[in-house]
Amino acid sequence: MGTVFVVFTFFCVVSAINIKNNACPSLFLYPVAGFSSKCYVNPDVSSNVGEMVKRRGYDIVTHTVVTHDGYILNLFEIFNATQENKNFTVFIQHGILVNSGVWVNGGPRSLAFYFADLGYRVWLGNVRGTLYSNKHVNLTINDPKFWDFNLDTLAAVDIRTMLTFIAKTTRQKIHYIGHSMGTTVGLMFLASSGQEGAKLLQSVSLMSPVVYINNLKKLEPSIIPAYLTGKIFNLFHVNGFLYHENAVHRIFTSICKLIPHVCYQLLITVGFGKTTHFSSDDLLLYFNNWPGGISFYQIQHYVQIMNSKMFQKFDYGAARNLQEYGSEKPPVYDLSKIKLPVCLFYGKNDVYYGEENIDRLYGEIGSNHKCRYSIPVGQRDYYNHIDFMFGNSLREDVYPILAETLTNAEM
Ligand SMILES: *[C@@H]1O[C@H](CO)[C@@H](O)[C@H](O)[C@H]1NC(C)=O
Ligand SMILES: *[C@@H]1O[C@H](CO)[C@@H](O)[C@H](O)[C@H]1NC(C)=O
Ligand SMILES: *[C@@H]1O[C@H](CO)[C@@H](O)[C@H](O)[C@H]1NC(C)=O
Repeated sequence: MGTVFVVFTFFCVVSAINIKNNACPSLFLYPVAGFSSKCYVNPDVSSNVGEMVKRRGYDIVTHTVVTHDGYILNLFEIFNATQENKNFTVFIQHGILVNSGVWVNGGPRSLAFYFADLGYRVWLGNVRGTLYSNKHVNLTINDPKFWDFNLDTLAAVDIRTMLTFIAKTTRQKIHYIGHSMGTTVGLMFLASSGQEGAKLLQSVSLMSPVVYINNLKKLEPSIIPAYLTGKIFNLFHVNGFLYHENAVHRIFTSICKLIPHVCYQLLITVGFGKTTHFSSDDLLLYFNNWPGGISFYQIQHYVQIMNSKMFQKFDYGAARNLQEYGSEKPPVYDLSKIKLPVCLFYGKNDVYYGEENIDRLYGEIGSNHKCRYSIPVGQRDYYNHIDFMFGNSLREDVYPILAETLTNAEM
């Protein structure tokens, strides 16, 4: 009895000391993170963008822009003020269900810091509905009307507004880097903006491009349940999801700490693809910026693109299409209009990757300056979807090629 008491007290003390541990080198350790000396505290697991940037010694300025339809978007500008400025600007656009925190939460391997080190001014976009852009001049996130937008809206309004603002502020042409949905809306903007896009940008880099997504068996287990769930809520006019972010993150973090293997299999492997690049240490870090506010219509738009096998505008049904577009079918985005240098970076373990889809996308882009890389180049331990944010060797596998692509476009 006495032994039990001593052991119990010992664990209580150790756990009190280590209670904040939120990173472990093995999934098995998460349920006992408080007791394991191998686990540790990663402050980035529960930090916002400003805190993460300052902790790493960089400077940050927050810029606020208001779209013509009233959404208040926050952009972060990250740089090293004591370093000579290269006078070039990079804009990085995050994907669906996340926010710009993913570009600064990896410590030294973060994409934003890599380009700040090279002397770039790095701007991080945040589209409407996400943590840093969840305000509107008249609406709140609890108003169904707030969530009445699709991928076309993000492209034509949010991306356009952010890029125009950056160009006006910096008086420089911008390198666009997108990941996942950031590639979708970037290309939608460029394909439909005529000369405007070409005037604002000087290069386009697409990581895990999501444009054609037909015949992807591995994607179906995550997108179909999401769509069906959304559809049910949609019938009751509920179209915004996962936007009470702090509550959502607490739930995911607690569940994943208790059953890390289930969490890893479902949310990482099934959701994004098999990987050897995602460290167990980052399991909870991932949930700092995922999942976050989305509209059902974003999912519906993707499902439409998947089924129609066409990169096209949102399908409102024949009658409203006729009003909106002047045709019963939604118009197709014409990728041949894109003449800027474009480079694709993809991982063959990504559930969004399909060889034919990538070939088709690459073939249709109208630029004379194109490149494409399967990451890691020349290796078989392929990236999945989120390795572009969390991979433990991003600085070797991706960034040097990405930086070279930008440099080539600057000449
Ligand atoms: C910023 O630049 C200065 C001068 O090159 C350098 O000493 C410093 O380490 C840089 N800061 C960061 C956070 O990299
Ligand atoms: C916000 O509300 C005001 C007053 O009703 C209205 O004039 C304005 O157009 C609204 N703005 C947007 C973006 O909806
Ligand atoms: C960047 O611009 C500033 C101000 O215009 C100038 O002083 C500086 O020399 C430029 N740096 C480079 C690397 O061109």
